[in-house]
Amino acid sequence: MKPRSTLAQSLPRSGIREVMDLARQMDDVIVLVVGEPSFNTPGHIIDAAAKAAHEGTTKYTPNAGLPGIRSAVAERYTRKFGRQVTPGEVLVTAGAVNALAAIVAAIAEEGDEILIPDPGWPNYVSMIGLARSIPVRYPLRPENGYLPDIAEIEARITPRTKAIITNNPSNPTGAVFPEATVRSLVDLAGKHDLWLISDEVYEDLVFEGEHVPAARFDPERVISVSGVSKSYAMTGWRIGWAITNPDLVALCGKIQEALVSCPPAVSQAAAEAAVRGPQDAVEEMRVAYERRRDLVREILEPVGLLPTIPAGAFYAMVDLRGAGIASRDLSRMLLEEERVAVAPGSTFGDVAEGMIRVSLATADDDLAEGCRRIVSFADRHGALPMAQAVTVGNRA
Ligand SMILES: Cc1ncc(COP(=O)(O)O)c(C=O)c1O
Repeated sequence: MKPRSTLAQSLPRSGIREVMDLARQMDDVIVLVVGEPSFNTPGHIIDAAAKAAHEGTTKYTPNAGLPGIRSAVAERYTRKFGRQVTPGEVLVTAGAVNALAAIVAAIAEEGDEILIPDPGWPNYVSMIGLARSIPVRYPLRPENGYLPDIAEIEARITPRTKAIITNNPSNPTGAVFPEATVRSLVDLAGKHDLWLISDEVYEDLVFEGEHVPAARFDPERVISVSGVSKSYAMTGWRIGWAITNPDLVALCGKIQEALVSCPPAVSQAAAEAAVRGPQDAVEEMRVAYERRRDLVREILEPVGLLPTIPAGAFYAMVDLRGAGIASRDLSRMLLEEERVAVAPGSTFGDVAEGMIRVSLATADDDLAEGCRRIVSFADRHGALPMAQAVTVGNRA
């Protein structure tokens, strides 16, 4: 047999999947590892999807999506960006991951560099690798509230740099960037004539301050990416989108032709109902995540394990660096010794080595018990500093 692709084989395996595989073989594990909402999709969205399916929305659609969802998304961002967004600027995709991957493939040549956050969502590395481009990490440091340092990003820009990816609110840190930071990122991209790919999938999940869309400051340069997965508890429906100029939308459509043809038709109808319909469920879920954030904070902050308080998304980075144990071993040991499944920090990049990520998308009681077990683990392994916590982002 001819050998398999070296590129495909070199793509990193997610440290999260490793933990899940181990956890599945054990009983009584508290699972704080998954990055998806713990709620069901609101009923009115499911009803709209069923109706659409009965009425025949079950066929291929245009590559960039059906007119209904494209105009619903355009209206949503007309309000958010404070300018007229047209349906021609909207690319509807099979989840935000598909929007990001299509865009990377549409803008990057082989060997181009794309700047990504460290810690950051691991999928950026693989999608950039698949486009035969090079991911270059810029640090988001805990001592800086996990906010980007513009000088540190600039120091990594070379003639091969094509784009900067930012993620606000952030997975895994929960940081929400203040307006000044968002502006500086857009300015930096402008200064070096780079694309700014702004991953804003957690835009509706903010507990402190407000989410500032980067596209407000440069509609040409900023490619905004989001979707229904996180805001509406719709991860399995697979609908995301990108907002950019119509030429790039058309180019991405060609890439979609090779990858998925189009996003799933019935899911597009569901997403349209989500975007156009009542937004109460979004707020209810946001409040639940905030309550859980507070719960985690009550347990972890006083013992110094939460150096930064998440201001958005649904994750908390727990700092176990005091134990001097590598993240992957920490996750394995927590599973074996405490029956708690968490994501290893190092899967998000080097900066989070020695840390773990806890997901807030878990029932309150399990989350509290899981955190108490993490504290006993930290105590046993000498990882209990008594540092003071600061709120992530919006600090000054
Ligand atoms: C930062 C970030 N971006 C994008 C996505 C992709 O979301 P989806 O493809 O479900 O829309 C995720 C999912 O976990 C994420 O955490």
